[in-house]
Amino acid sequence: MLPHSKKSSSLLKLHIITWGCQMNVYDSTRMQRALKPLGYTDTDDITEADMILLNTCHIREKATEKLFSKLGRLKLLKDQRALKGKTTLIAVAGCVAQAEGKHILERAPYVDIVMGPQSYHRLPESVAKISRAGGRSLNIDFPTESKFDHLPENLPQNKSEVTAFLTIQEGCDKFCTYCVVPYTRGSEQSRPVIQVLEEAKLLVKNGIQEITLLGQNVNNYCGKMNNGSHADLAELLYRLSEIQGLKRLRYATSHPKDFSENLILAHKNNKKLMPFLHLPVQSGSNRILKAMNRGHTVEEYLETIHKLRSANSEMAFSSDFIVGFPGETETDFRKTLDLVHSVNFAGAFSFNYSPRPGTPASEIAHSLPQPTLEQATEKSERLAILQKLLRDQQDSFNASLVGTTQKILVTGFGRKKGQMQGRSIYLQPVHFLGDDSLIGKEVIVQIIDQGTNSLAGTLISKEAS
Ligand code: SAH
Ligand code: SF4
Ligand code: F3S
Repeated sequence: MLPHSKKSSSLLKLHIITWGCQMNVYDSTRMQRALKPLGYTDTDDITEADMILLNTCHIREKATEKLFSKLGRLKLLKDQRALKGKTTLIAVAGCVAQAEGKHILERAPYVDIVMGPQSYHRLPESVAKISRAGGRSLNIDFPTESKFDHLPENLPQNKSEVTAFLTIQEGCDKFCTYCVVPYTRGSEQSRPVIQVLEEAKLLVKNGIQEITLLGQNVNNYCGKMNNGSHADLAELLYRLSEIQGLKRLRYATSHPKDFSENLILAHKNNKKLMPFLHLPVQSGSNRILKAMNRGHTVEEYLETIHKLRSANSEMAFSSDFIVGFPGETETDFRKTLDLVHSVNFAGAFSFNYSPRPGTPASEIAHSLPQPTLEQATEKSERLAILQKLLRDQQDSFNASLVGTTQKILVTGFGRKKGQMQGRSIYLQPVHFLGDDSLIGKEVIVQIIDQGTNSLAGTLISKEAS
């Protein structure tokens, strides 16, 4: 029986599961919109889904195992629904789909569609074709046409949404020796300025107040303008800041190597640009940064941080770290701790190095002797030490805000009755008593308490100037 053959197309239900980075979150919303014309509406209840879309991430180990174990459970669901005469399409998208496409189709014969990140505009066509004529589809090439020219417009998922992601650049040419992204997302491509502006204006018209621009190397953005010249990220931010009604702008993720003077100046002059920046450094040892092919030194990183703080004294930073990169010594690790002490981060993510198939570092890792138990323990101890230091810094950053008044963008209801939730300029969730008339407004809240990941406060004023 062909999928959906018995169902009226307006009744179809779609369940999307999203793993990985913010770009996957953005992609999932765009795929969801792309499937609307085929009659699919979203459901939280996976058991009633006529199509299940799994948007995957390949960044660290066990990504493939995690996918197949999830697929095993989805197969059971598909079989149970089949017993009731219902069909279920299973689609795998994202970075594991790109890296393991053929293997997925071979090992999981119940998967109908496998689609890499650059082909999402072809998803409706594949779904329609399989629904009509059966079969399976694999789309993992890097098409010459841009998916952004073919996907339907991006709108908030529901009316009460206040913040949104907007991809402006995708792909990566940096080839850090540990990373799979250049292979799964392809080469760096920037969307034209006009396209970004139009998408942003539409989001704002539909209630969005804060936009986070996304790219794997977002600060290397180089978008075509109508006059044939190109705009950098600072220029794009300037143009976006002119949109009436848009309150806040952010961008992620930046590469330390591409941090231009123009962009540093934007943090001084662009009042809509939030003073919080995620700037991954990975290691505090120049030797390791070189082996990682990061293209900058510790000194250059610290210089950029210093310049940004001089441009805007409110700036706070978060970062990513990798511990246990092949060949990392205790001295290298100490240097990472030194760097953390000198920057004083407001938050950070840290990971154990994970060998990724096909990357240069994983070949080095495999050529080294297997770590002894003692060495393996040492590595996990290093991660624990780093994580404790980063957590302490995050705690003291949060504590430094207690007693201050902060401008909070109200995003929705809090967990407790009568409580609202918003975002500080530093992206911390803030809870306070209020009502839903505040959603979408910037209000003034006095911070009275802190947790590791959130703050609590009292509403002082419903109007932030
Ligand atoms: N483009 C961004 C981040 C992309 S991936 C950048 O250049 O910083 C997000 C984070 O995952 C990276 O910053 C890195 O810390 C981590 N990561 C990537 N590959 C990894 C690997 N093989 N092992 C452990 N962590 C990894
Ligand atoms: Fe991966 Fe490096 Fe590219 Fe970031 S810059 S996506 S870490 S290769
Ligand atoms: Fe993961 Fe791909 Fe994003 S590997 S981190 S989903 S770019």
